[in-house]
Amino acid sequence: MSQDPNRPVSPVETAFRQAMRRFASTVTVITGGNAARRHGMTATAVTSLAMNPPSLLVCLNRETLLNDIMIDARHFCVNVLQAEQEDISAAFAGKFSAQERFGVGDWDHTETGLPFLRTAEVNIFCRKSAALPYGSHTILIGEVEDVRLNEGPGPLVYHDGRYCAPGAVGKDVT
Ligand SMILES: Cc1cc2nc3c(=O)[nH]c(=O)nc-3n(C[C@H](O)[C@H](O)[C@H](O)COP(=O)(O)O)c2cc1C
Repeated sequence: MSQDPNRPVSPVETAFRQAMRRFASTVTVITGGNAARRHGMTATAVTSLAMNPPSLLVCLNRETLLNDIMIDARHFCVNVLQAEQEDISAAFAGKFSAQERFGVGDWDHTETGLPFLRTAEVNIFCRKSAALPYGSHTILIGEVEDVRLNEGPGPLVYHDGRYCAPGAVGKDVT
């Protein structure tokens, strides 16, 4: 991904970046496409949108290959990584080329050729229902068509620029 290194960075942008580091976010790999053209990339900008209809949104940088593929693709999958799957996160965040990425992890595909991670904490299969451009990103809205819940150690979490264990996940809060 290229970004103009000479682009001026405003003070609010710097502060916002620091603020976002304090969010603890679940790490996912978003996969899209079909048997002919498929891709996946690591993303934390994934949010539940509504239960009626069951839907979520994903924010993709417009310079990513997945964004390009999702212009035509009709389906995508949110693969929530398990706590020990840092290697998969790194591979799909640019450590490996598009061709090499699916060599890391236990991948399968749906009838339409959409890849999904068999050993993910959760797989959420979506039909693309809207794609809204905003600034540098595309907001992808997906209507949930199917969900695979797996037994796992809990999700991989990203906080303050690092991967960390789920920590308080699962503890009772009173
Ligand atoms: C923990 C983590 C979270 C990320 N979240 C997002 C995200 O939500 N949206 C996005 O566009 N890129 C995100 N990225 C960056 C992409 O994974 C990275 O730019 C990737 O290389 C883009 O895919 P491409 O190389 O296939 O174009 C994230 C990277 C990491 C390490």
